[in-house]
Amino acid sequence: MRDYRIAAIPGDGIGTEVIAAGLQALAVCAERDGGFRLAVDHFDWGSAYYKKHGVMMPADGRDRIRGHDAIFFGAVGAPDVPDHVTLWGLRLAICQPFDQYANVRPTRILPGITSPLRAVSGPELDWVIVRENSEGEYAGVGGRVHQGFPYETATDVAMFTRVGVTRIMRYAFRLAQSRPRKLLTVVTKSNAQRHAMVMWDEIAAEVAAEFPDVTWDKMLVDAMTMRMVTKPESIDTIVATNLHADILSDLAAALAGSLGIAPTGNINPERAFPSMFEPIHGSAFDITGKGIANPIATFWSGSMMLEHLGETAAAARLMRAVERVTADPRLHTPDLGGSATTAMVTDAVCEALVGDNS
Ligand code: IPM
Ligand code: MG
Repeated sequence: MRDYRIAAIPGDGIGTEVIAAGLQALAVCAERDGGFRLAVDHFDWGSAYYKKHGVMMPADGRDRIRGHDAIFFGAVGAPDVPDHVTLWGLRLAICQPFDQYANVRPTRILPGITSPLRAVSGPELDWVIVRENSEGEYAGVGGRVHQGFPYETATDVAMFTRVGVTRIMRYAFRLAQSRPRKLLTVVTKSNAQRHAMVMWDEIAAEVAAEFPDVTWDKMLVDAMTMRMVTKPESIDTIVATNLHADILSDLAAALAGSLGIAPTGNINPERAFPSMFEPIHGSAFDITGKGIANPIATFWSGSMMLEHLGETAAAARLMRAVERVTADPRLHTPDLGGSATTAMVTDAVCEALVGDNS
């Protein structure tokens, strides 16, 4: 029996609802598989914890989860706590020290789901965005001076290191190589940002030489948004900086039907630290407590987690169950235009898992 220890951090808002749903599906998935067990430890870190203790997680928080095999994360963000506090106090406080430098964001139009792109139904849109997750515009470098004076000044400096860019390029080229089309688009903005983005392009070309079987091209980020809408079929794997990929991945999620579907993995490829899997959508306080959050992004993130743990058969089975459920419009939550609840979707995925005999 293969045993895995999972750290569950539901966080804020609908994070608690979707992580509960995700853990329910993962438990059924493990039982159905029979070959592995998931031991889940729960951590109540987030904005409620912050209001009580003045910090988003305890000082030894990272040490408590360092030994786990993976982290299953919900969302952070609360209306009455500044966003930069919640983000830097918990999510980035895990991603950066655990060197989860590759943020992987697959996008597909799942069965039964309508894309806002009129001509696109499914196979035309099957992308993976690789987001640099450790530096760039999210490096946290900068400062504010002269606060309270008319000449107040603030900077956010985007930091790019040769090591950081090289490793994300290698990760992206390797991922592109593992996919049938072996096609990578390197997103850049080297026309306007003439230092770091020029180095980014140079390193992309250097790393490309190590992957002669991968076809690659370069695209300015603004033009990339147009290409995603007008020629989705021309894209397969994408690599972009932290901020560029943040923006492109919301566009990708919308084009695939809803942010409620989009999953992500914050990966430490060397496995020196646990990797973290989460839905992209965030805490969504407007629908918190209503029981209507879409759990599909969390199930898909759970499938990515199983894949990372090496449980590929179970990961595929969970995705098959998800696709059986999305194919039925009666099981669509309100973000997809339906009226199903989180519980209905979760029960249906669990039933599909039990009934999957392949
Ligand atoms: C994401 C989110 C986060 C980000 C927010 C919550 C700060 O938008 O994961 O894409 O910008 O990284
Ligand atoms: Mg985002």
